[in-house]
Amino acid sequence: MNILEHIKQELPWLDANSTYDLTRGKPAPEQLDIVQNILAKIEQPFELDGIDLRNYGNPEGLPSARKLGATILDSKYDETHALDNSSLTLMHQIISCSFFLGFKNSKLSKKSKIICPVPGYDRHFKLLENFGIEMVTVPFQNDGPDLNAIEHLLKSEKDIHGIVCVPRHSNPTGHTYSDANVKALFKLAHPYKDNFSFFWDNAYACHDLYETIEQTPIDQIAKDHDMEHNYFQVGSTSKITLAGAGISFFSSSVSNLDTFIDFRNAITPGPNKMNQGLHMKYFEAIPLESQMEELKKVIKPKFELVDSCLKPLQEEGLCTYIKPTGGYFFSFNSAKNNADAIIQSCSKLGLKLLPVGACFPYQKDPDNTNIRLAPTFPDLTTLKRCISIFTNVTKYLN
Ligand SMILES: Cc1ncc(COP(=O)(O)O)c(C=O)c1O
Repeated sequence: MNILEHIKQELPWLDANSTYDLTRGKPAPEQLDIVQNILAKIEQPFELDGIDLRNYGNPEGLPSARKLGATILDSKYDETHALDNSSLTLMHQIISCSFFLGFKNSKLSKKSKIICPVPGYDRHFKLLENFGIEMVTVPFQNDGPDLNAIEHLLKSEKDIHGIVCVPRHSNPTGHTYSDANVKALFKLAHPYKDNFSFFWDNAYACHDLYETIEQTPIDQIAKDHDMEHNYFQVGSTSKITLAGAGISFFSSSVSNLDTFIDFRNAITPGPNKMNQGLHMKYFEAIPLESQMEELKKVIKPKFELVDSCLKPLQEEGLCTYIKPTGGYFFSFNSAKNNADAIIQSCSKLGLKLLPVGACFPYQKDPDNTNIRLAPTFPDLTTLKRCISIFTNVTKYLN
């Protein structure tokens, strides 16, 4: 009997018509229902902060939405703009602006290389690849990117013009950068500050599930290192309210924000202020902290479940992983360098996972070990089945 037949016998509930999918970090319908239930009781405002929400204008976003962004990103109000629904779009536009127009200390070109801690967010890598920007990888140390590897790269390679980071509950590894790590990163980058960007994607800034270390705001560390024009921080409410229909935020120096408005004015006559207004009413009805607590009640049991299933595998020496303290992902490393075989066998049993190498630039996992698990979308029963398929396959193949 082959492995798959064997596993099928052990998992009698396996059903060819069911969807088992751990590919993308999507909020569960239950999370979205929490939002919908509150939204249903709110009236869409047409005017807020003395601004007509129906019309063009206010490229920097509504004042109250900017205030919300500053709270989420732990940034200054004057240095924070509130924009449209996706921080990834914003990241694309910021890279475009650096590429075509240039910011004060950020001028990307086809010659530029960007440091990418790996494993990382696949869409960042695709974005940079689309621009023809070369990505150079560094591993993680416990509290952020590997500083020795970065120092070595900066000394040995020309045209390194930045680094892309998810500093809290990194996608997918769950790393949260310590202040010491971030300060050391700025110190290393300081000699190159005429053209060096910290692309700081704080997508999971307030998505703690367990106690997580405090972080000094990026603007403060940048200012302390005389590099206030060198950081570009983004975030959004995609995983706080509605994925795909939230508000994104951008924080940087006022000079960079002005440059960005100039650039974005040729893209849109203004952000969607109706949606910003609706969000402001939403957070009047339920404060941000209470909202995150409600979402935690849905997400945390899923993280507990995945952890309880992966732990025995780690104890048997079949894999390594770190239990994340928040965010949306688990990052699994197979001890046998056979991620592709695990992914393929899971697929044959109906469980969809991202392809091997998905969390690396150019889809190349040099060790063939890493698999990202995104446990938020399925309900608990389905998630248990997804993880059973995954752990059974891993055990049989290792
Ligand atoms: C690190 C990171 N950045 C950005 C995004 C996308 O955010 P948004 O919906 O605001 O574009 C995600 C979504 O998974 C993410 O993990």
